[in-house]
Amino acid sequence: MPQWRLTEETAGLIDMLVYAPNLAQALYAAHELGVFRYLADQQATPEAVAEHCGMPLESFEMLLGVLRAMDLVHVGAAGALELNPAVAPRLTGDLARHLPFQQEIVYPGLAHLAAALRSGTNSGVAAFPGAGATLYDRLAGTRLERILHDHLHATSSEALPGLIGTGALGGVRHLLDIGGGTGTNALAVAHAHPDLEITIVDIPSVVKLASDNIAEHGLSERIHAVAADVFVDRLPGGADAALLAHMLPIFTPGENIALLENLHHNLPDGGKVLIFDPMLDDDEAGPLGSAAHRLYLNCIAAPGARLWSGKSYEEWLRAAGFTEIHRYPGLPAAHGVRIGTKHSSE
Ligand SMILES: C[S@@+](CC[C@H](N)C(=O)[O-])C[C@H]1O[C@@H](n2cnc3c(N)ncnc32)[C@H](O)[C@@H]1O
Repeated sequence: MPQWRLTEETAGLIDMLVYAPNLAQALYAAHELGVFRYLADQQATPEAVAEHCGMPLESFEMLLGVLRAMDLVHVGAAGALELNPAVAPRLTGDLARHLPFQQEIVYPGLAHLAAALRSGTNSGVAAFPGAGATLYDRLAGTRLERILHDHLHATSSEALPGLIGTGALGGVRHLLDIGGGTGTNALAVAHAHPDLEITIVDIPSVVKLASDNIAEHGLSERIHAVAADVFVDRLPGGADAALLAHMLPIFTPGENIALLENLHHNLPDGGKVLIFDPMLDDDEAGPLGSAAHRLYLNCIAAPGARLWSGKSYEEWLRAAGFTEIHRYPGLPAAHGVRIGTKHSSE
């Protein structure tokens, strides 16, 4: 057991966390108002930024004070503002897609964290109108569904080189991308494996987004998107591998084992299942970012949702009949991959 000790740094961290919501909101607002995008393109005076971003100078000066205190914006020669180059990619690139997700989905949902913890369910989902039990049901067809999938896109984009780098998809002919979302993973995998055919399976509103995205990338010949409930409907046949990317965290262990058993039944001899997720350490005490993200999954996303350890995935793969388990820990964005193979004779 670790010996916890309250040090000056711990006390400082707690003091900072008390004010962290204000800092996070300043970050979200600066992103929403276009401050980071504007300063990524040029240095500018406070007056120019305030005018471009549509707010009174006094308001911007207050926001600027926080951004400077966080070392995100510097004042250069002649008073021109510049974005700290070390943070610019996180505030303007793909990774900035996490900001609206945190602002509009995680923040409102986790305002109900204590109630969700007391109730033992994802009651934070009540922050979103609708009757569905999961966030996915409630956001279907709304503006926030796009924000959710932009966040998933950013997460996948960071971690995908790790999945592709395993080489595990070499030799696969037809991949089922179960709960494949808008197609970020399928597109990257298709580019890395030019002979691979992919079928995304997801709920109808997401299949529409995926089909549009795939068509935009000119890959509709090789990547198909099929609407199905993976617990109710028959899975498409003919695939020799299945990808579960960010899918198992949103279901309970019983549901996950049932899904893996269904895939075991669906795949041919030698067929593989690949699980690609941020994974908790085996003692479930970290990493810190994953421990934080787990709160969103469990208290907002779906009943029983949470991140899992690689050890849990290996147990479930075996329980569903898969053998020859391969593990690839330590991929980018705290991700890991677990792979199981179906051998009918065993
Ligand atoms: C966390 S997202 C992961 C999306 C994508 N795989 C990725 O890595 O970005 C989970 C996906 O599962 C889909 N989903 C949830 N329940 C489902 C079900 N019962 N049947 C099919 N898809 C489902 C959601 O619509 C969503 O696109």
